Amino acid sequence: MGRRRRKRALSSQVITATAPGKIILFGEHAVVYQRPAIAVPVTQVQAQVTIQDSKQPLAIDARNQRRKISYDDLRDDDPLKAIIQLTLRAFKVTPPRATLTLHSTIPIASGLGSGAAVSTAIARALAQYFKRDLDAAAISSLVYEVEKIHHGTPSGIDNTVIAYSKPVYFVRGQPIETFNVAKPFRIAIADTGIQSPTKIAVGDVRAAWEKDKDHYEKIFDGCGGIAQHARKLIEDGKPDQLGSLMNENHELLRQMGVSCPELDDLVDAATRAGASGAKLSGGGRGGNMIALVNESNETRVREALISGGAKRVLITEVIRDA
Ligand code: PMV
Repeated sequence: MGRRRRKRALSSQVITATAPGKIILFGEHAVVYQRPAIAVPVTQVQAQVTIQDSKQPLAIDARNQRRKISYDDLRDDDPLKAIIQLTLRAFKVTPPRATLTLHSTIPIASGLGSGAAVSTAIARALAQYFKRDLDAAAISSLVYEVEKIHHGTPSGIDNTVIAYSKPVYFVRGQPIETFNVAKPFRIAIADTGIQSPTKIAVGDVRAAWEKDKDHYEKIFDGCGGIAQHARKLIEDGKPDQLGSLMNENHELLRQMGVSCPELDDLVDAATRAGASGAKLSGGGRGGNMIALVNESNETRVREALISGGAKRVLITEVIRDA
C-alpha cells in the first residue's frame, strides 16, 4: 500500500499540449469534391490543454464555455467526449483520475479550425499523459472522426493541417502532401464577427451542385487549378503573385453562393488599401477573409479592414513549419 501510494505521488503530473489554428488559402468547398486545396497553420491563436492528476474521476474544465463537467456526464455526441473516448480507446486505457483544462483563443465557427485544434490538443495531451507515441497521421484520423460531428461530411483538410501543423496541399482521399514555402509571406486575416456553421454552407453547395452539376463542376475545376498554380508560386518563391489568384478564387466562391455582403466589403476594403488580392476563407457566409499583405501595406490594410467592419485582424506569416 505504502509503495503504491509513493508510486502515485511520484507519478503525479501536470502536462500541457497545444494546437494551432488554421486558415485555408485556396480551394475551400471545391476540396469536398476532390479538388486540391492549400491550408496553413496560424500560430497566433491556439487551443491549449492541461491535464493535472486529481483524486476525482476525470473532469473537464472548459474555460471558454465556463463549464466544468465530469467526463461521465458528457453526452456521447459531445465533441469533447468523442475525442477523449477515441484517444483512450486507441491507447486501451480507462479515463484517468485527473482534470483536463481546456482554453482556446481560436474564435469558433469562423474558419480558423477551432474544433479541430481543440481535438488535436486533447489527443496530444492524452498521448503525453499516458506516454504514448501518437504521430500526426494517427492524431489526424482521430480528429477526423470528431470533425464528422461538427461538419457532417468534412473533406479532412482541417484535421490534416492542424495535426501536422505544417502547410499542406490537400486532396481528399489522397496521402497528405506538405510543400516547400520557398519565401515566407504575410497574410492578414479579418473576422466579420459573423458565426457561420460550415455544415450549412457545405449543404447548400451540395444542393446547388445536385441541381446543376456541369456548372458547379466547372467552378470546382477553376478552384482546383488556382490551388495548383498557387502551390507552384509558393514553391518557386513567388508568393507576391498570389494576390490575383486570391481575387479569382473569391469570385468563384461568390458564384458558388458562399460569400456575403460583409465578406465582399472586407475584400474590397483590403484591395482598395493596397493588398494585391483577397478572398473569403473557409466555409464562408461569415467567418474570416484573408488578404495578401507585405510590410509596406499591412498597417494600411489592417486599418481599412477595421474601418470596413472587421471585428479583429491578425497578421500571420506563412513559413515552412509552424
Ligand atoms: O470553415 P472551415 O475553415 O472549417 O473550412 C471548411 C472548408 C470546406 O471546404 C468548406 C469544408 C471542408 O470540409 O473542407
